[in-house]
Amino acid sequence: MASEQAGQAAPLRVRTVPSMSSAPSSRTLPSAEGNTASRRQFASDNYAGIAPEAWTALAEANSGHAPAYGNDPWTQRAADAIRDLFETPCDVFFVFNGTAANSLSLAHCCQSYHSILCHDVAHIEKDECGAPEFFANGSKLLLLPGENGKLNPAGIEEAVLRRNDIHYPKPRVVSITQATEVGTLYSPAEVRAIGAMAKQHGLRLHMDGARFANAVASLGVAPREITWQAGVDVLCLGGTKNGIHVGEAVVFFNRDLAREFDLRAKQGGQLCSKMRFVAAPWVGMLQNGAWLRHASHANRMARLLHSLIHDLPRVRILFPQEANSVFVDLPKTAIQALYGRGWLFYNFIGEGGCRLMCSWDTTEEDVRAFAADLRATVA
Ligand SMILES: Cc1ncc(COP(=O)(O)O)c(C=O)c1O
Repeated sequence: MASEQAGQAAPLRVRTVPSMSSAPSSRTLPSAEGNTASRRQFASDNYAGIAPEAWTALAEANSGHAPAYGNDPWTQRAADAIRDLFETPCDVFFVFNGTAANSLSLAHCCQSYHSILCHDVAHIEKDECGAPEFFANGSKLLLLPGENGKLNPAGIEEAVLRRNDIHYPKPRVVSITQATEVGTLYSPAEVRAIGAMAKQHGLRLHMDGARFANAVASLGVAPREITWQAGVDVLCLGGTKNGIHVGEAVVFFNRDLAREFDLRAKQGGQLCSKMRFVAAPWVGMLQNGAWLRHASHANRMARLLHSLIHDLPRVRILFPQEANSVFVDLPKTAIQALYGRGWLFYNFIGEGGCRLMCSWDTTEEDVRAFAADLRATVA
């Protein structure tokens, strides 16, 4: 049986960068072998390793025995650190990844006959394999357009008022991403306006904060200003892209909504038995501000990259550079030449749109080397 399955297995389809030897194609497996194996890349902040502060805390947690399933001191400390960060009593749950955080929290916000309003490039729509609809037992995502990857209050209102008959999946949740999938940011005023519109129509506000740290670092605001004070009910707070090995936190500011989320997470296969090893890195990252330092650094590298490439010939910046990424339109020949030089990056945004993502460990040398190669290829 096992060999039969193996024989039939389709090639693994993950959205990755092209292989180094083949022509660029947005949906083929990478071949990060040979001299590119340990090189820092611009493909994804998931390519980076574990930040030292997270690693140290992980090692510290690895001593003796501790209660399982989150009943350990590390999990308590991590949740308290998140409450301190947001300066409010909120309910915190740790899960393994962003897809689970988004899907389970959205499922917890609505019934199966409800709908979730989100941007048409939202990760929950494009990159979670239908998990939000699956975990919400069929709740529908209603896709809205919006400049620079952002929803706006008028668009939300139009979607809510479009129909109110029995045949329509009733809007119940608005989901926004901060920083957005195209590397832009909602200002505090923009989140507040969306929060107010959501409230006016009885909608819950969900925030996908896979890169929340980058947003806070770039906006220079207190985390509370772009979350609960602006009307966010639940935040999926990103850990992995910030430098943690595995894990995201689901943070319910609306504590009524959190009721029985522990059961949903368990049912969804997201309750880690050795939870201290998911929780401890959060303590390491939050206790001395490492989370913000690393995010600021990644943002700074993206700014540098933008400054070095934005005026190169045949290079067109696609979105405002506001967090830790730069989105560019490059000629196909340049993309191919860069792949040939060993660089890996996604090129799935539109026709020729490339995402260059900086991480906590991206160095100025990496940025300058990439920019120099790009300059050479478009010259
Ligand atoms: C905007 C956004 N949300 C959520 C996620 C988390 O997804 P994953 O399930 O891969 O942790 C990602 C990862 O790329 C993302 O970019």
